[in-house]
Amino acid sequence: MNDKQIVADHAANQVENNMIVGLGTGSTANLFIEALARRVADENLNVTTVSSSYISAIKARDAGLCVVAIEQLVYLDLYVDGADEVTPELALMKGQGSDLVREKLLANASKRFLVMVDQSKLVKHIGEKFAIPVEVLPFAWQMVQQTLEKQGGHGQLRPNAKNDGLAVTSHGSLVLDVSFDAQPNAAQLNELLNATPGVVEHGIFHQLADEVYVGHQGELNIMSVG
Ligand code: A5P
Repeated sequence: MNDKQIVADHAANQVENNMIVGLGTGSTANLFIEALARRVADENLNVTTVSSSYISAIKARDAGLCVVAIEQLVYLDLYVDGADEVTPELALMKGQGSDLVREKLLANASKRFLVMVDQSKLVKHIGEKFAIPVEVLPFAWQMVQQTLEKQGGHGQLRPNAKNDGLAVTSHGSLVLDVSFDAQPNAAQLNELLNATPGVVEHGIFHQLADEVYVGHQGELNIMSVG
């Protein structure tokens, strides 16, 4: 069994009857959706889900899960998603996909946020492997770029998959992928990006994750806060 499957199966086992569960986006989140759907069917569980993206909502419905609109909820029991980078303090970088806004809303509204990764996602510092995704209002991208430049951040507009235009998120934002001169500190970066006008959302998930399930060579390791 591969490492992503192992963490997805363990995460699905955390779901209990009558829970409201948030579904993340990406290849590991897809495995979780499938594993959860199997449990719900096999054990006849009553589980309500809410999705961080249209693609995950479609996948969940096709798998037989009950999916409700985000507007119908104010809290979740459990949110389960992947990540692109995880530090020892459980700061995350997310957003190589295009659904940051909903991902962070659900993570923040959840009583417990469980992250699933394989060992390749573990880093010492945020920004070690990827530039930081910053969703910006389309008319504000140059002002945001300029503001971050003054703080040592170099932002490039993300191209679309075919590389013949710009990537547009589910909410109609553009994405600046920002790399910093100095080794970024997750707490400071979070503060800086939260305080920059024109930023809709960004990929630093600071003090949101409760636990990280790490799959490595067929074994499960659990990192938790504290
Ligand atoms: C989606 O926007 C991302 O944050 C994903 O959660 C992240 O890229 C992890 O994806 P994989 O599970 O496909 O590695």
